Amino acid sequence: MGYLKNKVVVVTGAASGIGKSIALAFANLGATIFLADIDVKKGEELEKIIIDSGGDAHFIVTDVSIPVSIESLFEIIDSYRKKVDILINNAGISEWKSPFELSLDNWDRIINTNLRSVFLCSREAAARMPEGSAIVNIASTRAMMSEPNSEAYAASKGGIVALTHAMAASLATKRIQVNCISPGWIEVEDYAGLRKIDHTQHFSQRVGIPEDIARACIFLSDSANNFISGENLVIDGGMTRRMKYEE
Ligand SMILES: NC(=O)c1ccc[n+]([C@@H]2O[C@H](COP(=O)([O-])OP(=O)(O)OC[C@H]3O[C@@H](n4cnc5c(N)ncnc54)[C@H](O)[C@@H]3O)[C@@H](O)[C@H]2O)c1
Repeated sequence: MGYLKNKVVVVTGAASGIGKSIALAFANLGATIFLADIDVKKGEELEKIIIDSGGDAHFIVTDVSIPVSIESLFEIIDSYRKKVDILINNAGISEWKSPFELSLDNWDRIINTNLRSVFLCSREAAARMPEGSAIVNIASTRAMMSEPNSEAYAASKGGIVALTHAMAASLATKRIQVNCISPGWIEVEDYAGLRKIDHTQHFSQRVGIPEDIARACIFLSDSANNFISGENLVIDGGMTRRMKYEE
């Protein structure tokens, strides 16, 4: 197996979608993967897929919106290994509601799942990280641009971009690099069902796939790339660079 043998990688929201692709990409490079997710069925399935193909994975049922669940995740990791080399804060949820209908519970659920979790997981991981480690947070282009009815999600992702440079500053002397990725449209369910216009509206002439994000996570967590610090890498086929006025 590959050059990440002996490295320990924690991926939150690893059971499906982008997180699954990230976990598989690191597993293919030989890393030990801790898969943290609330979805027990899909998490255990992915753990088996990685182990059956000769890799090393541990699914730990984790709800990142609950602080004690995060503490428990890292205590379980302690019981296997002494260190964490790479943390990918990927878990996230979305809910589209009018600002007049968004309840405080809705707001708290999205902020706590998407944003507070990134702080808490990063703090736990950083306490276990040797020099040369890395944290990659998954934000969104919705940190920079919006459709209506996305207040809580947009705020959570904007918060991740700000938290990323704050943590990069605080963890600099520990030589831990912290960056984030802002994906645009990454189709995680039905790529074949997309329309032609879905693809051609992008400069890249295609909608994104989870592997587009996974490759960037590998790049940003490589200590050879540690001159990139506190940065937000937009991966969106050019959509946030495309000028759009009604014709
Ligand atoms: N797909 C996109 O177009 C896109 C675009 C921009 C940003 N993102 C971000 O990428 C990340 C992954 O998105 P996705 O499209 O793969 O989503 P997804 O819904 O396919 O997968 C999310 C995973 O997170 C897990 N999860 C949800 N709540 C959790 C919790 N409280 N604790 C632990 N795990 C939890 C789910 O069980 C699931 O396995 C999210 O942060 C999302 O906001 C996605």
